Amino acid sequence: GVTRTPLIAGNWKMNLDHLQAVALVQKLHWSLKDADHDFDSVDVTVFPPFTDLRSVQTLLDADKIPFGLGAQDLSVHDSGAYTGEISGAFLSKLSVGSVIIGHSERRDYHAEDDQVVAAKTQAALKNGLVPVICVGETSEDLEKFGASAVPVGQLEVALENVPADAEIVVAYEPVWAIGSGQAATPEQAQDVCQKLREVIRAKLGDDAADKTRVLYGGSVKSDNIASFMREPDIDGALVGGGSLKVDEFSSIVRFKS
Ligand code: G3P
Repeated sequence: GVTRTPLIAGNWKMNLDHLQAVALVQKLHWSLKDADHDFDSVDVTVFPPFTDLRSVQTLLDADKIPFGLGAQDLSVHDSGAYTGEISGAFLSKLSVGSVIIGHSERRDYHAEDDQVVAAKTQAALKNGLVPVICVGETSEDLEKFGASAVPVGQLEVALENVPADAEIVVAYEPVWAIGSGQAATPEQAQDVCQKLREVIRAKLGDDAADKTRVLYGGSVKSDNIASFMREPDIDGALVGGGSLKVDEFSSIVRFKS
């Protein structure tokens, strides 16, 4: 069979200033070390706000903390007269390795449609960043079309013009499960994640389908993470609220123990 290293990703959203960010990352590292966590068994990536990235990167580097660093968004442009925007080029200079694209909060509050998501995916790849492409249905979508139709359609557009050998991550986040305390069932999440993997196979081929990590996100907690990780097509989690507390996120990362 295929083995994919699990990925536990913490999307902090607009929480924690740079001082709180440094404290949290340091404590998380200590907590995992205290628990004799095997750092090679699970990849951990944190996605702090832009203003925290430099401080967190400096800490990861200085203390040799084996966490990935990600950003929550990027511009479709590389530089220029785009007030308030942050480019993928700047992010890679800061040793940022990945970037969340198409989160439902960006789609909802910043009118990002599938075309913008596709353009941002290209901007990430062009700058050597791994795009973490988020897809998911609202509760209205769920009622009208079932769980998988909308996320499948979103992913098909995002993967246009993505090279077959590009490293990407896909995150299935049903909008109704985000921040609601109502996670999808593992069976339902598995069903959609399996269909998303088939989209990857159709667009990018067998190798990409086997290698690409597909995450579940939406009210992931320490008490339900193991049930998602048992599913064959779920390779990790994109965690919001549960990534803001040291003990909780540490337990989620140690889902195997
Ligand atoms: O990107 C992760 C997120 O949208 C899920 O949030 O708070 O339900 O874990 P939460």
